[in-house]
Amino acid sequence: MGGFELKWFVGVAVVLMMVQNILGWGKEGHYIICKIAEEYLTEDALAAVKALLPDQAEGDLAAVCSWPDEVRRHYHYRWSSPLHYVDTPDFLCNYKYCRDCHDGHGLKDRCVTGAIYNYSMQLSQGYYDLNSEKYNLTEALMFLSHFVGDVHQPLHVGFTGDLGGNSIIVRWYRRKTNLHHVWDNMIIESALKKYYKSDIMLMTQVLLKNITHEWSDDVPSWEDCKEMVCPDPYASESIRLACKFAYRNATPGSTLTDDYFLSRLPVVEKRLAQGGVRLAEVLNRIFTKKPSVAAQ
Ligand SMILES: *[C@@H]1O[C@H](CO)[C@@H](O)[C@H](O)[C@H]1NC(C)=O
Ligand SMILES: *[C@@H]1O[C@H](CO)[C@@H](O)[C@H](O)[C@H]1NC(C)=O
Ligand SMILES: *[C@@H]1O[C@H](CO)[C@@H](O)[C@H](O)[C@H]1NC(C)=O
Repeated sequence: MGGFELKWFVGVAVVLMMVQNILGWGKEGHYIICKIAEEYLTEDALAAVKALLPDQAEGDLAAVCSWPDEVRRHYHYRWSSPLHYVDTPDFLCNYKYCRDCHDGHGLKDRCVTGAIYNYSMQLSQGYYDLNSEKYNLTEALMFLSHFVGDVHQPLHVGFTGDLGGNSIIVRWYRRKTNLHHVWDNMIIESALKKYYKSDIMLMTQVLLKNITHEWSDDVPSWEDCKEMVCPDPYASESIRLACKFAYRNATPGSTLTDDYFLSRLPVVEKRLAQGGVRLAEVLNRIFTKKPSVAAQ
C-alpha cells in the first residue's frame, strides 16, 4: 500500500470507528438495497422518485439512501433517531407492533415500523394532492427508503437490553467492534474485499442475478403484501434471524472469524435482496398512475 493510500485508508477507518455506533446498515448496505430497488421500479414510480429527489442525488435514489444516518446526529433531526430500529423484549425472539413500537420514553409509533407506515402514508397522500404542503415529500422518500432497508437488518429488531447488539463488544477478526456494527458494516465490507474486489456495483450485480435465478421461486413470497406496505412481517423475520444467526455464538468478548462470516454472509445477502425488492414494491404501490378524469 502506498503512503497516500495508507493515509486515506487510516482516515476512512477513523471516521468509520467514530460513527460506528450510530449508523444503520452501513452506507454500503443502504446503497445496495436502493440500487436493487431502482431496477424494479415501474416507469411511473421512477418518474415520481426522480421528481422528489434532492439535487444532490443527481437523479440517483441510492445516492441519498444514507441521508437519514447523516442527519440524525444533528440537533434538528435528533427526534428521528429512535425511528431507525425497534427494540424487543430480551430473549423472546418475537416482535409485536403494539408492544414494541415506541421510543425510549414510551411514545407510541416511534420506531422503524411506525416510521415506515408514517412516511409511506405521507407519500401516498402527497402524490394525490401535490399542492398540499403538509409534508416534505423529499424527506419522506429518503426516510422511507432508508427505513425499509433498516428493518431488514436483523439487529435493527434486536433485544432492548443490549441495544440491538450495540453493547455486545466482540472482535471481528482482529478488530475490536460491536455485534451491531458487524451486521451493519463488517460482514458486507469483508465480503466486498474478499469476493468483489471492493466493487459495490459488482456485488449488486451478483445479487440482482440471484434475484432472477437462485431466488426467483421465492421472490413472489417476498413481495406478498395486501396493504400499501407491510413492515411488521419484515420486523418479525429480522428478530427471528437475529436470534438464529446474529446473537448465536456471539457472546460478549468472543472473536468472530471465518466460521461466523461464512455462515452469516448468505443471511445478509438475502436480506439486502429482500430489502431492495420490497422497497421497489412499496414505491410502485405508492406511485401508481393517478386515475385519469376520463376513467372516473
Ligand atoms: C412522521 O413524520 C413526521 C415528519 O417527518 C415526523 O415529525 C414524525 O415524528 C414522524 N413520526 C413517526 C412515528 O415516524
Ligand atoms: C425538504 O427537505 C429537503 C431535505 O432536507 C430540504 O433540502 C428542502 O429544503 C425541504 N423543502 C422544504 C419546502 O422545506
Ligand atoms: C448467489 O447465489 C449463489 C448460489 O446460491 C450463492 O452461492 C452466492 O453466495 C449468492 N451471492 C449473492 C451475492 O447473493
